Amino acid sequence: MFKVPTVAADRLPALLRRMPKAELHIHIEGSLEPELIFALAHRNGLSLPYADVAALKRAYAFSNLQSFLDIYYAGASVLITEQDFYDMARAYFVKAAQDRVLHAELFFDPQTHTARGVPMRTIVSGLHRACVDARAELGVSALLIMCFLRHLSEEAAFATLEEALPFRDQIVGIGLDSGELGNPPEKFAKVFARCRQLGFRLVAHAGEEGPPAYVWTALDELKVERIDHGVQSTHDAALMQRLARDRIALTVCPLSNLKLCVFPDLARHTLGQLLDAGIVATVNSDDPAYFGGYLNSNFTETFAALGLKAAQAYTLARNSFEASFIEPAAKQAYIRQLDECFETFR
Ligand code: ADE
Ligand code: ZN
Repeated sequence: MFKVPTVAADRLPALLRRMPKAELHIHIEGSLEPELIFALAHRNGLSLPYADVAALKRAYAFSNLQSFLDIYYAGASVLITEQDFYDMARAYFVKAAQDRVLHAELFFDPQTHTARGVPMRTIVSGLHRACVDARAELGVSALLIMCFLRHLSEEAAFATLEEALPFRDQIVGIGLDSGELGNPPEKFAKVFARCRQLGFRLVAHAGEEGPPAYVWTALDELKVERIDHGVQSTHDAALMQRLARDRIALTVCPLSNLKLCVFPDLARHTLGQLLDAGIVATVNSDDPAYFGGYLNSNFTETFAALGLKAAQAYTLARNSFEASFIEPAAKQAYIRQLDECFETFR
């Protein structure tokens, strides 16, 4: 096992920024910056209910998940053409490369676009083309995970799955997102079973605002491999043991949790507790354009607030590669790059 060097506190932010990492929980529609929302609205001849970028930004004051989702879906409504989806993802990949993200797994929410008449082909083609170019031009590998909106019906999820099947080879996995409370994972048991048969990798948001019971059913009824968020698991000792024993990764998003009032301040975040319990936690940005920071801000602000050290930075970065859906050989190659980076801080 790699021996992590001791790194002085004043050099830790540089290490966090420079270390190779993977991002496993990023809603690509949540990377739409206010400036790009206005530019796309203009390009598509749409008007927005905000006078300008500053007015839109003033609306980014959230009290819970739903108060955010209302604005997030409104923002996504400017996406019309294949080029719009490409430009959105490209802007994210440029930022990700600056944050030393070597691999990213992007969530997308097709139902919020197909409901407005945007064809599935337009969505997937634009995002896939951006993924291909990110690898070739920015050195970032990327995969797409299609999410079902849990506030809609399981029947609607089945219809979305059908629409996506012509693009099966461009989508690695299936996720579940949107308003959690009142929409437990088991509502989607049948469609997830079908996705599993089709060979998709499975993840679900659970235990963000919802109870530990939702994490249990995501595992036992949906049979997901990773839990998105999962921070409410700390309230259930048996669940914590299960997550650690089965090495179920949690894709934790600290700045999201702060902005959506899941924790009152970052110093009260339970990331350190999850790591101490031996859980495969990772750090991610969720919806960076709305929550005040991309991946490196999530790392530096959370480490400062919690007093985490180089050993935890190494564990989190390594976990991000190990929990990703890339080939084992590619994982090992990324982890070698991680080790080389830490060596330079010895
Ligand atoms: N969609 C975009 N961001 C989300 C979040 N944090 N939780 C659930 N659904 C989402
Ligand atoms: Zn999310």
